[in-house]
Order: sequence, then C-alpha cells, then structure tokens
Amino acid sequence: MAQALPTNVEAFFDADDIIVSKTDLKGRITYANKIFCDIAGYREAELVGQPHSIIRHPDMPRAVFKLLWDTILDGREIFAYVKNLAKNGNFYWVHAHVTPTFDASRTIVGFHSNRRVPERRVLNDAIIPLYAEVLRAEKAQVNGKDALAAGTKALADFVGSKKVSYDELVFSL
Ligand SMILES: Cc1cc2nc3c(=O)[nH]c(=O)nc-3n(C[C@H](O)[C@H](O)[C@H](O)COP(=O)(O)O)c2cc1C
Repeated sequence: MAQALPTNVEAFFDADDIIVSKTDLKGRITYANKIFCDIAGYREAELVGQPHSIIRHPDMPRAVFKLLWDTILDGREIFAYVKNLAKNGNFYWVHAHVTPTFDASRTIVGFHSNRRVPERRVLNDAIIPLYAEVLRAEKAQVNGKDALAAGTKALADFVGSKKVSYDELVFSL
C-alpha cells in the first residue's frame, strides 16, 4: 500500500458529496464511505484497520490535530479545515465535522467525521495562511514536543487575535 510523494495537484469532490469515516477510540478507521474511497484513492479494505493518519498531509500542522483530539476526547464536536493526502500524492481540502459517538451510558465508543467541500474564500483568505504560519512555527523547532507547543501557541495567538475560539472562528469566516 505504498503511498506516492505529495504532488501539487488538487483533487475536488462535488458540493453535494459527503465524505464519511468512522474510527475506534485510537483513530483507526472502522468505516469509510464510497466517496471517501474515491477521493482518497483507496479501496475500503485498504483503509479499515489503518490509522486515520494514512491520509495525513505533511502541510497540516500538528497543532490542529492536537486541538481535534483534545476536543473529541473531551466529548465535544469540532469543525476543522483539513488538507488531506490521496494515495496517488494529490491533495484535497475538506471542511470536517468530527464528533464522538456515545453508547447508552454516555461513554465514548468511537468517532465519526463528515466532510463537505470547503468554502474557497475561507481557505484562501484565512486557513491556508494560518496553517502555513502554524507549520512554520512548528518547523522552527528541533523536537516534536517543542514543535507541538510552538504550533499550539501560534494557533492560539491567531485565534486570540481574533478574540474567538478556533471553532467560532471557523463558523464566523
Ligand atoms: C473521526 C476522525 C477523523 C479524522 N480524519 C482525519 C483526516 O481526514 N485527515 C487526517 O489527516 N487526520 C484525520 N484524523 C486525525 C488522525 O487521527 C491523526 O491525528 C492525524 O492524521 C495526525 O496524525 P498523527 O497524530 O499521527 O500525527 C481523524 C481523526 C478522527 C478521530
């Protein structure tokens, strides 16, 4: 299941498509719909059991995923813009809504993500420059722990400068 190196080619999906996946508590994929498989370029059997980071793009800051995990492990939902990597190296942007799945006793038993086409204006005006800045802050550090701290600070500084949370920011853009 070798993955190609990232290309600069963007892939697109339709405005009425929803890319769906479900994971277990560790973020291993338990389900991916056909639209997910089509845009990412994998068969479902290649995805199930794999960590969701199988489609992680190197342009994505670590701090965004930390925020995502901190939020959903706390039992809350999050909306996030994510640049993903297809098997052939192409990339595609999504606007993801990630939620915990609860059992009858309110225990988290897994996670669910629905993704739609992102708004291009929001990507170009806010998200792409923001993520580039956060990634730059992370790459300026030599070890992973410092990189995550620097990225988280850069993300918080940006959000703070707008006086809103990341979630509110994403909603208000
Ligand atoms: C339901 C769910 C959906 C996710 N969707 C994506 C995704 O589309 N792309 C992605 O790179 N990471 C996604 N993640 C986050 C990954 O689990 C992982 O944290 C991320 O790819 C960063 O990889 P790393 O933690 O190994 O650095 C998702 C996690 C969950 C729980």
